[in-house]
Amino acid sequence: MTESDRSASTIAAASGPVLGIETSCDETSAAVVLDGRVLAARVATQIPLHQRFGGVVPEVAARSHLLTILPTVEATLRDAGLRGPELGGVAVTHRPGLIGALLVGVQTAKALALAWQRPLIGVDHIAAHIWACHLQPTDAGVDWQPPKPPFAALAVSGGHTSLYRVDGPDAFTLLGRTLDDAAGEAFDKVGKLIGLSYPAGPVVDRLAAVGNAQRFAIAKGMTGRTDGAYSFSGVKTAMRLQWQTLQAAGEPTEHDRADLCAALQATIVEQLTRVTLQSMRRAGLRTLVVAGGVAANSGLRAALTAACRREGLRLVAVPPVWCGDNGAMVAVLGETLLRAGHRDDPHELDALPTGEARRLSLTATGS
Ligand code: KG4
Ligand code: ZN
Repeated sequence: MTESDRSASTIAAASGPVLGIETSCDETSAAVVLDGRVLAARVATQIPLHQRFGGVVPEVAARSHLLTILPTVEATLRDAGLRGPELGGVAVTHRPGLIGALLVGVQTAKALALAWQRPLIGVDHIAAHIWACHLQPTDAGVDWQPPKPPFAALAVSGGHTSLYRVDGPDAFTLLGRTLDDAAGEAFDKVGKLIGLSYPAGPVVDRLAAVGNAQRFAIAKGMTGRTDGAYSFSGVKTAMRLQWQTLQAAGEPTEHDRADLCAALQATIVEQLTRVTLQSMRRAGLRTLVVAGGVAANSGLRAALTAACRREGLRLVAVPPVWCGDNGAMVAVLGETLLRAGHRDDPHELDALPTGEARRLSLTATGS
């Protein structure tokens, strides 16, 4: 037993609701979860602050987190009717993300855990997105069950596009990832190019619903590979060329924009669906979880639903409300890890901007 294990284990075992804190990017969020049920959740979004820059400005994000984190935590506890010392533990995203932004959440969580004498757990942001599949949907029937490991999990966000085999809350094996841009990044960059506001993903989703996906011919990506890799730089270039052609012919219309969005979304969704199912077949996995900001995309949800039905697979799509960054996903993963006996020393937990997640075994099996 290390020094840090010893000091952490002097704090009582976790039972009771867990507070989750998430500040890795542009949402200051907190939530309280008990047995996978969300008792309270707050998100103080920074999107309007960053919109005029067309993307997240790290220093602005960190300063804003600093101003809003304590009021957000206080409001969440008030909503849940709880005081800090009544919690079973405090969970916080400590990696990966913007370092200044992460530090605010981590330092706050450490201080609160020490002040309240509650156990602390640092969680990985991508693992938390995936573990949001354990949050009970509000419309869950009595026999709703979270997916049982092993299952496949597609994490699609602004920073990540990766498929994992999940064997437990601390056992993730990488089956495939993007070679270049993340899917959300492709949505955001193409959206910015054609004049949509940040973040463009939800706007593309809305416009795609009224656009004609057939008008612009965009080649399918990664058809020749069978190693589980994704790639979205090709679709980005194809969209730029189409946009330049439209501009050369005059001022592009709303109609043009909607058709481009429909083509962009169809191309990204087709590749995500095809490559994911191919990898699942190879790995012999029968359940798919889809999580992360892009998992809210209506086209992706529809395509995965149809493909999984066709192949007799179970699809667990994280409810749209928990797809973007939120405290509930952090709390539910924290709850699982704390109950399994994991702890972090509040004097030692670090914020880490990148790198392999400490509790993920990222073994690439594609070749
Ligand atoms: O998970 P998230 O909130 O933050 C990261 O961890 O990156 O994901 C944000 C990403 C952004 O790229 C945003 O444009 C995208 O998710 N997104 C969407 C949709 N809603 C959010 N992309 C496509 N369709 C959507 N409905
Ligand atoms: Zn995220």
